[in-house]
Amino acid sequence: MKGYRSVKSSQIVLKELMIPSYENFGGKVHGGIVLSLMDKIAYACAASHSKAYCVTASVDKVDFLNPVEVGEILTLSSSVNYTGRSSMEVGIRVVSENFTTGSVRHTNTSYFTMVALNPDTKKPEPVPGLLLEDAQEIKRFLEGRLRKKLRKQHDIDLDRARKEIPGADGLEALKEENCKVGF
Ligand SMILES: CC(C)(COP(=O)(O)OP(=O)(O)OC[C@H]1O[C@@H](n2cnc3c(N)ncnc32)[C@H](O)[C@@H]1OP(=O)(O)O)[C@@H](O)C(=O)NCCC(=O)NCCS
Repeated sequence: MKGYRSVKSSQIVLKELMIPSYENFGGKVHGGIVLSLMDKIAYACAASHSKAYCVTASVDKVDFLNPVEVGEILTLSSSVNYTGRSSMEVGIRVVSENFTTGSVRHTNTSYFTMVALNPDTKKPEPVPGLLLEDAQEIKRFLEGRLRKKLRKQHDIDLDRARKEIPGADGLEALKEENCKVGF
């Protein structure tokens, strides 16, 4: 019996200074740096909840709402929103703070699905459930459950739609597109 653990017991905050080596060609911080930090904190949060080795199964779409500047401090706040049998949805909110101007900007909020693996078999293993202690935690749990359901439905819909894509004989479908067929 894995029991239940509170949401608060695995919430983790990570702060990191955006140093010049993180800069991209446009003078902003590489999106990949932010993604890498998100993956790290998702692991730490999921492993802390499950007390197990975890892998990243999927990442929901990541929209960068604002660029991150070199010299800013990035704060990532993570929380287990939802627990299934072996999977956990970790919600991550990222904000950047400019020390000089004092401005704080929301960079993105994303959802990582992490799965706990058995150390011997490397197969998914059950995780403790969540002890929900307030209305917000209940809402987040239900939203996480909804996202899991919609993710599965999306996979089914995409599979079905791909089968309906015409082959090379369906060139009519490309008429309005920004492409040219070269054979
Ligand atoms: C994630 C992984 C362990 C799932 O293995 P699997 O044999 O498909 O396992 P299952 O079908 O039993 O699913 C286990 C759980 O993972 C969830 N899951 C599986 N694939 C998923 C996906 N793509 N997105 C979200 N959740 C997923 C299932 O819903 C299930 O959740 P539940 O137990 O809470 O109901 C396996 O696909 C894997 O090891 N992937 C590689 C992970 C990795 O290496 N990540 C780092 C990449 S650099």
